[in-house]
Amino acid sequence: MTQQCLANAKLATLAGDGYGLVAAGAVVTEGERIVWAGPESALPPAHAHIPRRDMGGRLVTPAPIDCHTHLVFGGDRAREFALRLEGASYEEIARAGGGILSTVKATREADEATLLARALPRLDALITEGVTTLEVKSGYGLDLETELRMLRVARRLADERKVRIRTTHLCAHACPPQYAGRKDAFIDEICIPSLRAAHAEGLVDAVDGFCEGIAFDTEQIARVFDTARALGLPVKLHAEQLTHQGGTALAASYGALSADHVEYATEADARAMAESGTVAVILPGAFYTLHEKQLPPIAAFREHGVPMALSTDCNPGSSPLTSILLAMNMGCTLFRLTPAEALRGVTVNAARALGLDDCGRIAPGLRADLAVWDVDDPAELAWRIGFNPLHERIFGGVSC
Ligand code: NIG
Ligand code: FE
Repeated sequence: MTQQCLANAKLATLAGDGYGLVAAGAVVTEGERIVWAGPESALPPAHAHIPRRDMGGRLVTPAPIDCHTHLVFGGDRAREFALRLEGASYEEIARAGGGILSTVKATREADEATLLARALPRLDALITEGVTTLEVKSGYGLDLETELRMLRVARRLADERKVRIRTTHLCAHACPPQYAGRKDAFIDEICIPSLRAAHAEGLVDAVDGFCEGIAFDTEQIARVFDTARALGLPVKLHAEQLTHQGGTALAASYGALSADHVEYATEADARAMAESGTVAVILPGAFYTLHEKQLPPIAAFREHGVPMALSTDCNPGSSPLTSILLAMNMGCTLFRLTPAEALRGVTVNAARALGLDDCGRIAPGLRADLAVWDVDDPAELAWRIGFNPLHERIFGGVSC
């Protein structure tokens, strides 16, 4: 197995509750795992013979993880961007058949090869900033065949690039026109059967829904979650994005991995999340794009010890964002996260939001998914706008 020692590095290990900095550090990797990390002066004699690579004093962090994306979709929604600038709201556009449903139409019309070809440039943009693991949701098919096609394409991304993909079934994302006024029937006849079929094909790592006035209520989501539970799949939820619907408390009651958006979450929701260990996934790209005003209850999340993750929410409508670094910057500037919280949000807490315990920190036994940055201070990662200081991306111990 290939061994290497990344020496003369400044490490942000993410140990503890800050950056977990090690000033003159080293990381030893063997195959795709980290076997040792710490101050170079404490390198055990057993590792002394391993070839050293001088990192030139650069910052080494766990590679960023994008834990909430809708990366696979057909078409684009640039026209809606223009409409919103003329004053139409996201909800008005959705209710008029635009929004998610316009992407559904384009996605149903696209074959696997087309969906893959359209997703790759978005994936490449994330990879350019060091991302090694990302989550990809279905939810623009809303019929059995297209939901499965989206998930198959998502899985194929990992054959095309050196990246780890986690797939999330999100059929309860919007109600298609064929089921207008019959949301319960849509849940029973499409969402649940497509979840079972996708699971049978080994295509599902987690189950998501959109709990919102323009989407599904808590009872409808609970039926999907009951199916997930019966199949042994973890759940997560788009909750309290535009209004307070009770989705966060519901998600917490199912021990959800995460509740995402959560702008309208309350202090009681934060308490429930803390108790269930549910991560708050903060999505500033959607807040920014939709000109939202309601800030997520960051102070309550801090006070109750709710782990906060940050993600691009890359999607064609509310967050056409393919920069994890910009998501970090927006998290700080729009929501006053600290730069350390932003880095934790795309590493250790993003891993947790995906139910992964083998990445997101620099520690022995974890995957050697690392990012080497040309920065002096880790806060620079969140501070700079439109600048990519990535020097090297390491995926499973291999530089790529
Ligand atoms: O995470 N909130 C619902 N789903 C997506 C938006 C999808 C879309 O507009 O196409 C989100 O913001
Ligand atoms: Fe989303």
